[in-house]
Amino acid sequence: MGRNLVHKILENHLVAGELEPGKEIAIKIDQTLTQDATGTMAYLQFEAMGVPRVRTKLSVSYVDHNTLQTGFENADDHLFLQTIASKYGIYFSRPGNGICHQVHLERFGVPGQTLLGSDSHTPTAGGLGMLAIGAGGLDVAVAMAGGAFYLPMPRVVNVRLKGRLQPWVSAKDVILELLRRLTVKGGVGKIMEYSGEGVATLSVPERATIANMGAELGATTSIFPSDEVTREFLRAQGREEVWVELKADPDAEYDEVIEIDLSTLEPMVAQPHSPDAVAKVKDVGKIPVNQVAIGSCTNSSYTDLMRVASILRGKVVHPNVSLVISPGSRQVFTMLAQNGALADLIAAGARILEATCGPCIGMGQSPPSGGVSVRTFNRNFPGRSGTPDAKVYLASPEVAAATALTGVLTDPRELGEPIEIEMPKKFFIDDRMILPPAENPEKVEIRRGPNIKPLPINQPLSQSISGPVLIKVGDNITTDHIMPAGAKILPLRSNIPAISQYVFSGIDPEFASRAKAAGSGIIVGGHNYGQGSSREHAALAPMYLGIKAVLAKSFARIHKANLINFGIIPLTFMNEEDYENIRQEDKLEIPDVAEQLTKGRELLVKNLTQGTTFRVLHDLSPRQIEIIQAGGLLNYTRNKAGE
Ligand code: F3S
Repeated sequence: MGRNLVHKILENHLVAGELEPGKEIAIKIDQTLTQDATGTMAYLQFEAMGVPRVRTKLSVSYVDHNTLQTGFENADDHLFLQTIASKYGIYFSRPGNGICHQVHLERFGVPGQTLLGSDSHTPTAGGLGMLAIGAGGLDVAVAMAGGAFYLPMPRVVNVRLKGRLQPWVSAKDVILELLRRLTVKGGVGKIMEYSGEGVATLSVPERATIANMGAELGATTSIFPSDEVTREFLRAQGREEVWVELKADPDAEYDEVIEIDLSTLEPMVAQPHSPDAVAKVKDVGKIPVNQVAIGSCTNSSYTDLMRVASILRGKVVHPNVSLVISPGSRQVFTMLAQNGALADLIAAGARILEATCGPCIGMGQSPPSGGVSVRTFNRNFPGRSGTPDAKVYLASPEVAAATALTGVLTDPRELGEPIEIEMPKKFFIDDRMILPPAENPEKVEIRRGPNIKPLPINQPLSQSISGPVLIKVGDNITTDHIMPAGAKILPLRSNIPAISQYVFSGIDPEFASRAKAAGSGIIVGGHNYGQGSSREHAALAPMYLGIKAVLAKSFARIHKANLINFGIIPLTFMNEEDYENIRQEDKLEIPDVAEQLTKGRELLVKNLTQGTTFRVLHDLSPRQIEIIQAGGLLNYTRNKAGE
């Protein structure tokens, strides 16, 4: 039976397991990437593993998230990232060089290789035929140390593209159509593999836009074949030598098949407050708009911004609209400057930002209160723009540019004659803002400003777990509840003692001091504990505060994995009434916990305050039990390296 592209790449990288959906597999990672918001912690973790140099084919550290310098914290982080990259064999993309996914596509991506990145939009590199997956910083640190990446084998969905996009319809509309059909949960546990004659009509940056927002489907990743279009792109980047042809066998098998006829698509928009609230622009109507933001890792390529410049040339933005543009990379920025398009954008009244994530994570340029912002970005959850009550619409660069001119949501087909933008035969290539690692690493001193605090290391699992229930929460607690973000807290990501003061601060400001005083404790939760963003600080900071176990009715998948990674045992109630009986501050004990974990699925818990006992369940694999016993994935990896 023929093999699909995903299976071909996985087979080339398989370290353990079988390619059967749902079963755990381990794969070798060729490349890693980090961005600054997750990178400082990933490198502290890598450093703690005691490995002298990265063991990947290539690792890159990008600075693109926290670039606003209103205090010393971000600058300290950047200097730490620069020096630690130099010492351990990692390329360092300086602030201003661009958004990690755009730069990676341009300068580093290699078809057929695996990429693990500590950013959820790492799948963008799937536009180039990479198998690119987003993960927690600790998983990336383990990969840099040469360890495999473990994941449940996803189902492979074949998205067959036929036909060709009509004028004014773009790659963004393809992924918005998929989000409309499948919703934000539709890709969970799946890899989207694109094929069909329509693929050849899409450029690599267009494919990257589609792969990027596969993350919004919840997909593990998305991937396109590597064909002549890929080869042309790499040639124009001066990297043709890394090209290989990659495609599925003609009789390849898939777990599911979806078909999209590109020629039937129309300009779309994702309405507030979810990327799957998709409708045709013409059906939404001409709502007044306050802000248009163009850029982000989804839509900031050279051709995206050239289209915008062509639409705006000789015109001026509507008086009610603030138009902000952040180019995806220094390469894109320079080319726009060299060919005069930047002058067109400035003359039209666009406010030009640096080549970073910027407004995508609310780092400046928040819309006005209650305002409407049309963005070429990938997420529109409430508050992400920095304005809690703003309404954010997600659309293509064409829709965004047309809207900036009219002041109301506008179907770009109203602009008349379509514009044609050619892919350049040669991009501007200058890698001097990407610093290679030092040739004499022993001479590099890692700079640690006051915002870089040593990484807390957990102890191996003790004989028994005991401690008070430090907090009892209800259903659907998110990682945002556990570890809030925001401009005040985000700069503390490399300072665990400081950031841990904010654990549960939104719902229980006393939690951190109570946990510190107790020294050891347990969290009790309801259903779907830890849903939302994958942030690992929601496990790391509680670990620092002495949390040993979480007893919940059920867990969200990624948070559960993070708890295990940091040595906190996730346990579910065998009988949900036991949740009702537990009171906050009850003292619990799990005797002989290591022995109980290895014996079976059930564990006995004593409620010492009430003098009762009850049972909880675990579903840990033998490897995960070993990780818990070691006190987390970091210790586990160090122990394995020493064996
Ligand atoms: Fe940055 Fe937004 Fe992408 S934060 S990496 S531009 S999703």
